[in-house]
Amino acid sequence: MASAIARGLIASGEGKPTEMACLGGGGNSAPRLAEETGMRLAQEIDDLLAEADVLVLACKPQQFKLLDPRLGDLTRGKLVLSVLAGFTTERLAAFFRQARGVVAVMPNTPTQVRAGVTAWTARADLPEADAALVQRIFGCLGAVLRVEENLMNTVSAVSGSGPGFFFEVVAALEAAAEAAGLSGEQARLLARQTFIGSAKLLEQTGESPETLRNAVTSPNGSTYAGLQVFERRKLRETWKEVLAASVARSVELGKM
Ligand SMILES: NC(=O)c1ccc[n+]([C@@H]2O[C@H](COP(=O)([O-])OP(=O)(O)OC[C@H]3O[C@@H](n4cnc5c(N)ncnc54)[C@H](OP(=O)(O)O)[C@@H]3O)[C@@H](O)[C@H]2O)c1
Repeated sequence: MASAIARGLIASGEGKPTEMACLGGGGNSAPRLAEETGMRLAQEIDDLLAEADVLVLACKPQQFKLLDPRLGDLTRGKLVLSVLAGFTTERLAAFFRQARGVVAVMPNTPTQVRAGVTAWTARADLPEADAALVQRIFGCLGAVLRVEENLMNTVSAVSGSGPGFFFEVVAALEAAAEAAGLSGEQARLLARQTFIGSAKLLEQTGESPETLRNAVTSPNGSTYAGLQVFERRKLRETWKEVLAASVARSVELGKM
């Protein structure tokens, strides 16, 4: 996720690699990001934060307890943006107690091609200038909206995990197309381009998905027959279960 944000910022021109630094947990993600983007690879946490105004925290929730405890003091006067699923601003503020503000952010992976959507939340006392900075940083990576804190786990399920759900749906159509007799190459082209083209149609026409669905669904036609299977299998109920499971896991992750 950190890499997606950094790459998106650089691609938009909003972030200059020479003014950005990264630090990982001893694996190869940070060295690779630095090498591929020109960002500075910090050697340790003091070095990372010495000249920084904003820290983007993007470790896994399970890794939070392993973070260098000095971060609490080293972020004095800085703005901390956390993308950790399930982490409340209260919990973050207790750790980054010297920061001038903490923001819980939920971006998604399409930020790396600047087609993301990011929701964020902060306490009401976040200075206007910092709220504007968050909007600017994530605004150049796609759509951005501020939400009430109690909605963040739902946001995480819908748009944070959403790309994962979408890719599984694409893969499922590809697999079904192949099982129905198309070659792998044919199935890939037809399934992917159908989803990409449909998403563009949705975006460019501004119509509701129901209207666009109805436009390809003749009464008792072949699309109708396929949709009846969704109906019988209770697709919309299934999606509610998918979101509920994802929200529940975010709540658990926030306690790690
Ligand atoms: N993936 C998504 O679509 C998505 C969407 C929204 C939010 N998020 C949130 O994004 C966060 C990261 O998810 P991810 O999928 O990007 O995980 P990931 O690929 O495993 O990345 C975790 C990063 O944290 C670094 N790290 C681990 N321990 C560290 C430590 N002690 N000090 C400094 N850096 C440390 C890792 O560095 P090393 O490689 O050196 O170990 C790695 O760069 C999660 O909290 C998740 O909830 C993810």
